[in-house]
Amino acid sequence: MTDNKTKKQLPGVLRFLIKLSQIVLYIPIQAVFVPFAMIGLIDGIYKEMVRSKKLSVSFSAIKTLQYRWVMHHFNTRPDQASVAFTKKFPCESHFGLWSVYGALIISQRLFGFTTMLGKIAERGKETLVSSVGQRVLQFDKIMEKYVNDVEQIVLPGVGFDLIALPFTKGKKVKVFELDQVDTLKVKVETLKKAGIKHDWISYIPVDYASESWVDRLLEAGFDKTKKTLFLWQSVSLFLEESAVKETLRSMAGLCANGSIIAQDLYSKTFVQGEYAKVSKRNMRLIEKMGEPCKFGIDMSTNPKKAVESFLQACGLKTTVYIQFGEKLGIDPFYCIVEAEKL
Ligand SMILES: C[S@@+](CC[C@H](N)C(=O)[O-])C[C@H]1O[C@@H](n2cnc3c(N)ncnc32)[C@H](O)[C@@H]1O
Repeated sequence: MTDNKTKKQLPGVLRFLIKLSQIVLYIPIQAVFVPFAMIGLIDGIYKEMVRSKKLSVSFSAIKTLQYRWVMHHFNTRPDQASVAFTKKFPCESHFGLWSVYGALIISQRLFGFTTMLGKIAERGKETLVSSVGQRVLQFDKIMEKYVNDVEQIVLPGVGFDLIALPFTKGKKVKVFELDQVDTLKVKVETLKKAGIKHDWISYIPVDYASESWVDRLLEAGFDKTKKTLFLWQSVSLFLEESAVKETLRSMAGLCANGSIIAQDLYSKTFVQGEYAKVSKRNMRLIEKMGEPCKFGIDMSTNPKKAVESFLQACGLKTTVYIQFGEKLGIDPFYCIVEAEKL
């Protein structure tokens, strides 16, 4: 009996000892990084918060780029372009990121010390905190699924997401990226400085207050008769409900048969900062940087139905519905959906 018990315990004990030795090895590496992290943090905060304001660049878009840098370095999603981009990006400190994450990156690579940053939550078992990586991977899957099947891809509110580069390079598909004027200007300048080829992508800066993104898209050569994938990632939560509806209706109006609109939606409780303390803090920061969260779906009773009827009111039929965290039985906070025009 003791033997069996010992056998059962052995992997656990071994696991504990391995983890302990990894922590022991990690601590001195982290200690070396601490002074650099202090300087790096100041540089990072200055570039992300002060310089981005001066350049009128979207702070939330900086944060999503940052996570793609993290995913690359922690081996959860290769993204060399985002790393090269970050090095030349005026609103991020590459040194700052290394100084903060460097000890963990080195420890993971040298002796397998893996923290949450090096793991992707299993599909269906995402919590609010662990959902970021899975979110990025799900949009990759959507790209992968449709890139050879559509003639056009439109990414409204693309920010500094470089997803289109690896998926569409050398392909016939036309790509249109839209965002606010200054954000897109900085993106194109940074791509050039970083030597990242992007000449097959049409960048369409839009001043949303004074012009129609649909008109700008059509002027840039978008063809309403062609099968299109719209990828609208992490934008709707920053818009008023009326603007979300108007945008989705406009997208539906641009859809030829077989076109797909893929997007993510957050719950009302998340957007109102009631879901979790950690999200409330982040949202306050993003709000201070000029991007308050505004739109969420009431997911409290039947989230799938709520999403379907919202999309229906915008002239869309839901074809794929992925709810994060559903296997954990936690309150719904986020979903990714695909839809086609009704
Ligand atoms: C969280 S970022 C997401 C960026 C990118 N889609 C990604 O996943 O990395 C939100 C983006 O929405 C854009 N945005 C903000 N207000 C907008 C508006 N009124 N219309 C369109 N895009 C807007 C911002 O410029 C920013 O790039």
